[in-house]
Amino acid sequence: MTIHRRAVLSGILGSAAAFGLPRITFAATEVQRVDDLIARMTIEEKAGQMTCLADAFRPFNPPNPQAGIQDEKRLSEEIRKGRVGCLFNGIGVAGARRAQELAVEHSRLGIPLLFAGDVIHGLKTIFPVPLAEASTFDPAFAERTARAMAVEATAAGLHLTFAPMADVARDQRWGRVVEGSGEDVTLVSLLSAARVRGFQGRDLRRNDSLLACPKHFAAYGAVAGGLEYGSIDISDETLRETHLPPFSASFSAGALSTMAAFSEINGVPATADRALLTDILRGEMQFRGFVFSDYTADEELIAHGYAEDERDAARLAVLAGVDMSMQSGLYIRYLPELVKSGAVPMGTVDVAVRRILYVKMAMGLFDNPWRSLDEDVERTRFATPAHRELARESAGRSIVLLKNSGILPLDPAQSRKIALIGPFGEDKDNVYGPWAFYGDPGKGVDIASGLRAALADPADLTVVPGCGADAAIEGGIAKAVEAAKAADIVLLALGETQTMSGEAQSRTTIEIPAVQQALADAVTATGKPVVVLLRHGRALALHDGVANAQAILATWFLGSEAGHAVADVLFGKVNPSGKLPVSFPWESGQEPFFYDRKSTGRPVVDNRTEYRARYTTTDNSARFPFGHGLSYSDFVLDNLKLSDTAMRWDDTVSIAVKVANKGSRRGSEVVQLYTRDRVASRTRPIRELKGIERVTLDPGESKTLRFSLTRRDLEFVGDGNRRIAEPGLFDIWVGQSSTGGLHAQIELYAAAPGANTPN
Ligand code: BGC
Repeated sequence: MTIHRRAVLSGILGSAAAFGLPRITFAATEVQRVDDLIARMTIEEKAGQMTCLADAFRPFNPPNPQAGIQDEKRLSEEIRKGRVGCLFNGIGVAGARRAQELAVEHSRLGIPLLFAGDVIHGLKTIFPVPLAEASTFDPAFAERTARAMAVEATAAGLHLTFAPMADVARDQRWGRVVEGSGEDVTLVSLLSAARVRGFQGRDLRRNDSLLACPKHFAAYGAVAGGLEYGSIDISDETLRETHLPPFSASFSAGALSTMAAFSEINGVPATADRALLTDILRGEMQFRGFVFSDYTADEELIAHGYAEDERDAARLAVLAGVDMSMQSGLYIRYLPELVKSGAVPMGTVDVAVRRILYVKMAMGLFDNPWRSLDEDVERTRFATPAHRELARESAGRSIVLLKNSGILPLDPAQSRKIALIGPFGEDKDNVYGPWAFYGDPGKGVDIASGLRAALADPADLTVVPGCGADAAIEGGIAKAVEAAKAADIVLLALGETQTMSGEAQSRTTIEIPAVQQALADAVTATGKPVVVLLRHGRALALHDGVANAQAILATWFLGSEAGHAVADVLFGKVNPSGKLPVSFPWESGQEPFFYDRKSTGRPVVDNRTEYRARYTTTDNSARFPFGHGLSYSDFVLDNLKLSDTAMRWDDTVSIAVKVANKGSRRGSEVVQLYTRDRVASRTRPIRELKGIERVTLDPGESKTLRFSLTRRDLEFVGDGNRRIAEPGLFDIWVGQSSTGGLHAQIELYAAAPGANTPN
């Protein structure tokens, strides 16, 4: 499977046809139906269609601050009056049917409700957090898990998920890193598009098709200092080159809704940014669905200092292009008067309503408002053995072997005493990860249970917490040291709780809490062999006792099957193949840190030379770079061959590399293609990922992998926001991470007549 960047990056500029956007065709009668409805709707009913409120019929512990209507009785009244178009974050067929009945049978026009929810990494079967699954570097696999999530979510009476998060996370202090696919534009684009395909399936009208809502538009992953809800100051070029492509890819994959980000970009909050939500989103990117505000984000325009009051906030949001207001209720309260006074043209409102009604039509809700509301289906689709099995496979593939002195894999048959030490050994509260609030508490497999199930003699395992996640336990470290001394091998289960990442969980440092670090230092000081099992929702800066362990596994938040998957990898049932979707720096202070950074005029030569672009206290490289991940096999790359070192304007250069498994186990490797444009009219990153290829090889087996490269892969956003390629020299690396690899160069030759090149 070779995946090329041009497949996901084309389409920021150019014609709609080039994007391959889905053109859903409607029958003339359906078009007529929407027109008729709009002609008959009062402005109140229109504002109602443009309003999404928390689902009080089947409320869940919301991940948001409480606001607006919270009880079923009041909400029923609103639905009956046609003052609501969408409910969100409730699950269960019975409650949804009650709400839908009110809309379809008791409101004047009978327009069905849309049911939305945050199904981010699973409903009842909890899959690894999206960042973990990004480590598979395998879009086809992400598509499969998204499909499984959609099957469960639609069985629970949902039509739409507020996912995938398509934000490119450039700073690991940002808590929402966990919800996306990492730091690289190409990887995020590929995985976001795959998840859209998985959620939506092949036919939107099917009962198990879950509409996707790629979010948060746009550049939310570029908030300054990684501060949630913070501001973004960004160039037009970086916006288009790094942050918009995952959205383009998601729209090309068929997503028909998106969500405006909470944050402001260059002084204008996204929710009120007409240039962003209309000119760029609809003009340049040819988006055809509808735009949600984020939760009360229209109302927050006041706190931003951009709107005078609630009325002004509603006016700004609707004029900018926010079609559906989430939870504030501002549209229902102010749109009727805003239209009456002429402050908002009725035409603007009609366009928004039309977009929403068309999406409802595309999902088949007008023909069958009871789609996805079947109690028999609900009874049979949750956490099926097949889904649990897929979750286990996904979790195993998401684990990244960061370091291994040779201690792993362990032999499960060999009797030896294992001490499982750390706050996450027997903990069930932090196996799912954030954004899994529909999951049944306590049903995930913790590490100790996973290990016991795998061991020939479960009595070989001793479990000692040593400390809490963030608090000491009296005498805890002493007990842990004792257990370590009595054991043959120590497993240290350390890291972050699930509330340390996710929305609003920005941190100033990305380190393991001090009490756990002290525990790790004391345990490693015993001299016993230590394997660290990290739990985390972001890249971490590792130190001392943790960094110096014999082996380290990045296990993120792995979901329902966490403990089994960890055991699978520890005992070699699964040969690790995960690759880091985010760079692990040496120190927190290096953030924002990402591999595709710029050279600067004074690139670092070594760690001593002064007056270079380096910190005086830290090597400004990664401890574990983007794309890094070891295996129990030993993969060796050689024989890099290019079909030509000269690329004419319309040529394709093919790149071949031989991969051999020199180890003694069957395993998979993800081979990565990177380029660097040596000289350009706008400086280029020191490396950019252009292709990934996964290969599975038996011991002793080898295979030749092929990548292809064209001018389109070498383009960047130049003057006037146009994608251009420039003739000249390009480095090429084919390797096993974003550092090192086999190297070659190609030269791109002068433009064909009329092509976009600089003077
Ligand atoms: C988050 C969104 C989420 C919404 C609804 C907001 O706080 O930013 O990502 O979809 O809440 O729960």
